[in-house]
Amino acid sequence: KQLLSLGMIGATLIAGSASAEVRDIRIGVDVPYEPMEFRTPDGELTGFDIELGNAMCAEIGIQCEWVVQGWDGIIPGLQARKYDAIMSSMTINEQRREQVLFSDPYITPPSAWFAPADVEIGTPSDVTLEGLTLGVQRGTLQDNYVTDMYGDVADVNRYATADDMVLDMDSGRLDAAFLDFPIGKSTLLESEAGDYKVVGKKITEPKEYFGEGFGLAFRQRDKELAAAFNEALATLQADGTYDEIHARYFGE
Ligand code: ARG
Repeated sequence: KQLLSLGMIGATLIAGSASAEVRDIRIGVDVPYEPMEFRTPDGELTGFDIELGNAMCAEIGIQCEWVVQGWDGIIPGLQARKYDAIMSSMTINEQRREQVLFSDPYITPPSAWFAPADVEIGTPSDVTLEGLTLGVQRGTLQDNYVTDMYGDVADVNRYATADDMVLDMDSGRLDAAFLDFPIGKSTLLESEAGDYKVVGKKITEPKEYFGEGFGLAFRQRDKELAAAFNEALATLQADGTYDEIHARYFGE
C-alpha cells in the first residue's frame, strides 16, 4: 500500500515537470514575410521569428530545425507531424484555437492598408474601396477580413505568398493591399521598387479577426512543449534578450 502511494507521488512529479519531457523539434514557417521570416542573400533563414525562436530553443536547451512550408498548408503540416510547432507570424484567434494550441503572444502588431502613393482612397470603407482590386495573402486573417467586409464590392486577389502580392502591386495590378503592418512597412514603404503609403488607421479590431497577437502554435495535446516555450519567452523578456532581438528588426 505504501509502495503504491510512493509510486503515485513519483508519477505526479514527473508529469508536473515540463522541460524533462521536451525534446528537439522542427518548426514550420512560411517565407518570405519580411522582417519576421525571410532569407538573406545567401539563402539563410533569418528574421524576428527565426531569431526569437532560436533563442527560445537555446533557452529550453533543445535543437530546433526550421521547415519551410506554404501558408496554405501550415496547420495541416503541423497535424501531419511534418513539424511540431509553427512560428510564422501566426495570429492567435478563436477560430484557430479549435485546431491548435497557442503559446502566449510574443508580439502584437496591427494590420494596415497599403497603396501606391498616387492612388487616392480616403478612409477605407465599402464606399471608398468599391470597384478596386485588393490584395491579401490567401488564408490569412487579412483574407478573412477583406473577403467578409469588402468581398461584395471589390475584387479580392489572393496570393500564395506576401511577395507575390508585392510583385503585383509593383506592376500596378493592385489598388491596395491589406497586410500585417510590419510586413507592409518593410516590403512596401521601405521598398525600392515603388512609392507606397499607409491608407487610414492601423487596424486591430474586431478581435474575432485580429486576435491577440502572434503566437507559436502546437498540436493540442503538446501542453508541456507549449509550457516550455512560454517559460522561455518570459525568461528572454526578463533578461533583455527579447528587447535586443526586437531592436534589431524594429528599432528602439
Ligand atoms: N498574421 C496573419 C495571420 O495569422 C498572417 C500571417 C502570415 N504569415 C506568414 N509567415 N506568411 O493570418
